[in-house]
Amino acid sequence: MIVEEGSVKVEIPDNITVTKKDEVFYNPKMETCRDISVAIIKAFLEIYNYKDFYIADALAGSGVRGLRYAKEIGGEVYLNDINPKAYERIIKNAELNNIKNIRVFNEDANVFLAKHYRFFHVVDIDPFGSPAPYIDMAIRALKTKNSLLCLTATDTAALCGRAKKACLRKYLAYPLSGRDCHEFALRILLGYTMRIATKYEIFLKPIFAHATDHYVRVYLKTDRGAKKADKTFEYLGYVKDINGFKMIKPYDKPEEGFSGPMYIGDLYDKDLVEKALDYCEGRAYKILSKIREECEINQIGCYDTHQLAKLLKTSAPPMEKIINLLKEKGYKVAIPHYNPKGIKTNAPLREVIEIILR
Ligand SMILES: C[S@@+](CC[C@H](N)C(=O)[O-])C[C@H]1O[C@@H](n2cnc3c(N)ncnc32)[C@H](O)[C@@H]1O
Repeated sequence: MIVEEGSVKVEIPDNITVTKKDEVFYNPKMETCRDISVAIIKAFLEIYNYKDFYIADALAGSGVRGLRYAKEIGGEVYLNDINPKAYERIIKNAELNNIKNIRVFNEDANVFLAKHYRFFHVVDIDPFGSPAPYIDMAIRALKTKNSLLCLTATDTAALCGRAKKACLRKYLAYPLSGRDCHEFALRILLGYTMRIATKYEIFLKPIFAHATDHYVRVYLKTDRGAKKADKTFEYLGYVKDINGFKMIKPYDKPEEGFSGPMYIGDLYDKDLVEKALDYCEGRAYKILSKIREECEINQIGCYDTHQLAKLLKTSAPPMEKIINLLKEKGYKVAIPHYNPKGIKTNAPLREVIEIILR
């Protein structure tokens, strides 16, 4: 079966189940993820004025992502997959599109990345589940300054707190559950990735992140030097709803309510978001537009209006009403891209409660 996505056509097996069982993996639901990725990478490479660049798609599946990068962004794209059937299919799919600016590899992603030490301007890790097993080698394969690491995680059960032990195991952090868990999932993945980079004396600066459908996706920029890497720890923290005093506790028994360590700095580079908006349309554009509004508000997490209304034993007024009333009072408001019932605002919680109770 041939499917069209972005500017490419790819041949994929008939009757795909979108599971590991498929001969070659292709998930049509990830099209928006790939659309956003094309836009962000393109904008990033333009901001740094790269003319000749190398991009790695280390777990390429059918090749749709890497082939789109090759055609829609340019440069030289290296696609790799451990599955020999995927490797063959990538070559065929490249021929189908007459794409020549690629190289194809059939190795374990970590072996492939290790063979390209400090070589790539962009490394994309889009695995089944967690990217954690590939992050070290991905960092090592990147140029140490102004290069881009892109990671997808589909193990949201771990990152969003339904599987706490899995989060601790994979990301060395305690997750936060609840309706706005998705932003904290992004922050935990970012914090973990940044901590890995410090031992290579690399500072990874988060420049874009989104939580859409069943996955989270983060983008971080490299910068080199021990002093810069040390800054990482200024951006790490724990999130708790209230309370706190020092006492010694076993590693696996955090004080009730604590979550982290996680990244607590800004999630977005505003210029990058603005530029990327020029390169996307449809659903990807809508998500980026929401994110552009989020960028204006310096709030970690959001107020979930339904959760608040439930706590206040009332029902939540329409979102539009809450937003208008807050704006009338001079506050900034945005609906976070990951929660249609949430609001990010510079208004104090008290004001939001008053409006819900009104
Ligand atoms: C989620 S799919 C990739 C989807 C693809 N990036 C896309 O956007 O369509 C994950 C891929 O990783 C491959 N894979 C699994 N373990 C791997 C490893 N250790 N090294 C390289 N590839 C691996 C699988 O064969 C599968 O094709």
